[in-house]
Amino acid sequence: MAFGIPPEVIEEIKSRCDIVEVIGSYLPLKRSGSSNFKGLCPFHQEKTPSFHVDGARQMFHCFGCGKGGDVVRFVMDKDNLTFVDALHMLAARAGVIIPEYSAAGNPEEARRRGSIRERLLAANELMASFFAENLKRSPNGPVGSYLRSRGLSLEEALHFKIGAAPDGWTAGLEFARSKGFTDEEMVMAGLARKKEGSNRFYDQFRGRLTFAITNEQGRVCGFSARSLEAKPVDGGKYINTPETPVFRKGNLLYGMALARKAIADNNLAVLCEGQMDTIAFHRAGINFAVAPLGTAFTPEQAKVLKRYTSRLLLAFDADGAGMKAVERAAEILLPLSMDVKVIHIPGGKDPDELYSSGGREAVAAVLDEARPLLSVLTSRLSDKFDLNTPVGRGEAAAWVANYLKLVENQVELETYVAEAARMLRVSVEAIYSELADLRKIERRKIIRPETEQIQPVPQKPVRERMVYPAALLSLLELAVNSSDAARQIAEMLSAEELVSADPVTEALNLMINASLNGEPEQGIEEIKNRLTERPSPEISRILVEHADCPDVPRAVSDSVASFRKLKNQEKKQALLVQLSRAVTPGEKMELLKAVAALK
Ligand code: UTP
Ligand code: MN
Repeated sequence: MAFGIPPEVIEEIKSRCDIVEVIGSYLPLKRSGSSNFKGLCPFHQEKTPSFHVDGARQMFHCFGCGKGGDVVRFVMDKDNLTFVDALHMLAARAGVIIPEYSAAGNPEEARRRGSIRERLLAANELMASFFAENLKRSPNGPVGSYLRSRGLSLEEALHFKIGAAPDGWTAGLEFARSKGFTDEEMVMAGLARKKEGSNRFYDQFRGRLTFAITNEQGRVCGFSARSLEAKPVDGGKYINTPETPVFRKGNLLYGMALARKAIADNNLAVLCEGQMDTIAFHRAGINFAVAPLGTAFTPEQAKVLKRYTSRLLLAFDADGAGMKAVERAAEILLPLSMDVKVIHIPGGKDPDELYSSGGREAVAAVLDEARPLLSVLTSRLSDKFDLNTPVGRGEAAAWVANYLKLVENQVELETYVAEAARMLRVSVEAIYSELADLRKIERRKIIRPETEQIQPVPQKPVRERMVYPAALLSLLELAVNSSDAARQIAEMLSAEELVSADPVTEALNLMINASLNGEPEQGIEEIKNRLTERPSPEISRILVEHADCPDVPRAVSDSVASFRKLKNQEKKQALLVQLSRAVTPGEKMELLKAVAALK
């Protein structure tokens, strides 16, 4: 396994990064043949294009300077990256997860290398097997009986990583200690708590059914534990792992590791309400179902799904809360241009009850009958507004326009506008004019009076595409994932080097400040706030992805070094430009000295 990245992962990265697309994001390419493109070579000065990109063979070659190779080589040469850094950058771009390398699944190695994240994952995985063993040992205990009552066999339960947390105070802790984990590590992993004002520790999960939660890579990073009592005495119906460095509820989806291949293969995901519903779908053969973890669906979760599919079926409860969830999901998903439909289960059942009573056929049938999200929202208008009064209809039009404005596809938009107009018994023009008032979409479709001046169709602003150096992105990623890394970066980089000239450096500064204050979560919150005003796919990706790193200190110094190298090159470039304009020998001398000092 060269470079710590498995060959099959390297292959996956290459296959998901089309060379034409990648190079096209660096320089303009012109088509010259069915899958060939050409442009001005970025590696030498030229006036006529001799730089060729072959889409079929996924190679580039410059007939002027002789440089050539595959997509990884291009990024290495263009951004001055090592092979591994280039792969990481391309992986981030394509949403490929690079598994943790040599410390993976090896807690001792992780301890030696000081990888906190790996220790925390190992602790979680240890507890998952502890809970599973405990369930196997007492299949007739409360958890076993409960599972039977929901029609789940022991094998199925274990497949879905269900277990039973023993009913004592320290059984889990004692087991973890026997395997070399400290109480502090267990607290940091969210698996134990410290009794206030004492030195005593106790288990976070006691006497409950446990669902192990895995990250996208299938590694256990936390738990959701359901009480089996009618009125739980300790906490609510569900107790979850608190936020930890490896468990960010808002970024995780239950069932994602099991479902992600099927989601990609089917280009379809089902989003349901909880663990039992997810399991019911999988048992019904719908193996592309996932759920948020007891919180409302978040934009981060949407982005995770979007990396695998553009089509989504929402399977929320049919009650008021379920409809609210649909509305909220619409606000998140429509701007992402996701094709979203809503599943309706008759009789107010949840998917789990539907599967228990009707089996696979019943589940398949409701999937088939899913209706487009906008149609569902439109049909809600009569419940929400009094459509018999002009005022009510006006309010309804304004409400639905808020969703319609998010639909980008013109054909779809027309369909939904027509539906809304029919529902409200108004003209389509009235809806379009509502939309125009929202100033978000073009007014093309409105029939205007002759006298009205035709406004030029507003152009979508061309988004400035910044290409960030991979070293800078990996510094941010390290800082987001570990406050130790953030502190180390603060030590290594000078204030001058950290001057924020762009959103990524700005985010890095936020993470460093927050980590120095001992509140890294604050940094993440602040970054998210800024993202809502100024979206950046690069930064969002870093927030949702946790590419684990076994040797944080080393990764930080490597990234700092390449970041510096890059900065130096930029500086040198600027000095050389000045040099070319310098007139007096004194000026030239100064500049030459400055250039020499950079080396
Ligand atoms: P449900 O109440 O439907 O859970 O909540 P359930 O286990 O399916 O219970 P029954 O058997 O239908 O009564 C659905 C999801 O909401 C989250 C969990 O993720 C659960 O799977 N939830 C619910 C919480 O996080 N906390 C709660 O207190 C309740
Ligand atoms: Mn339920």
